[in-house]
Amino acid sequence: MDEQTRDAAKRRASESAVEAVSDGDVVGLGSGSTAEHAIRILGDRVEEGLDIVGVTTSFQAREIAIEKGIDLTTLDETDGHIDVTIDGADQFAGPDLIKGGGAAHAREKIVASATDSLQIVADPTKETDVLDTVVPVEVLPDARTTVANAIREMGGEPELRWAQRKSGPVVTDNGNLLFDADFGAIDDPEALATEIATIPSVVEHGIFPGYADAVHMGTEDGVTVFE
Ligand code: 5RP
Repeated sequence: MDEQTRDAAKRRASESAVEAVSDGDVVGLGSGSTAEHAIRILGDRVEEGLDIVGVTTSFQAREIAIEKGIDLTTLDETDGHIDVTIDGADQFAGPDLIKGGGAAHAREKIVASATDSLQIVADPTKETDVLDTVVPVEVLPDARTTVANAIREMGGEPELRWAQRKSGPVVTDNGNLLFDADFGAIDDPEALATEIATIPSVVEHGIFPGYADAVHMGTEDGVTVFE
C-alpha cells in the first residue's frame, strides 16, 4: 500500500469513527497521523453545528483542535468522564492494542481509561493476529538504566528512542524518556502489561489490553469495523 493510498485509508477509518460521536459528547482526541484526520473531520462537523467539547491526548492533538475551533476541556472539569475517544494505534489484535509510536501513550491511556467508548482508527498495516511490535515504555529520566535492566530481565530488548536529526533522546510531553522494548510475539498482553507496570519509575507503557470498543480499519476502497 503506497503512502497516498494508506493516507486515504486512514481518512476513511476516521470518517467511520466520527459517526460514534453525538451532540453534547465529551470527546477524547487522540494523537498521530490517523487521529489527526478524525480531529479535522470533527472540527468540520463543529463548524456545521455539532456541539462537543474535546479532551486532548498530546501537544499535537491540542494544536490541531485549536486550529479547527474545537472547544477544549480537562478531565478535572468533566469529573474524569469522557463519552467517546477516537485514537490511533501502532498495532491491534482484536481489542488489544500497542500505542505510543508518537510518545503520547501515557496521556492516551489516561484518556482511554476514562472513556465509555474507545474508537480506534487504523489502516491495514496495523492489523495482526499476535501483537509483536515494540512496546513504548515511558520512564523517569533518572531511572533509565534500572528500567532497562528490568526490561532485559523480563526478556525484552530496550532501545532508548532518539529524536530524529537531533543529538539527544525523545522527551515526552511529560518531560520523561522513552524506551522501545522488543519482546517479540506477545502471547499474553494482559500479563506483560501488568509485569512492566510493576517496574519502579515506569510512568506508563504502550500495551492497552482489551481497551478497544471498536476498531475502524480503512481499506483501499472501504472500511471494516471490528466490534
Ligand atoms: C501516539 C499513538 C498513535 O496513535 C500511534 O502511534 C498511531 O499513529 P499513526 O496513526 O500516525 O500511525 O499511539 O502515541
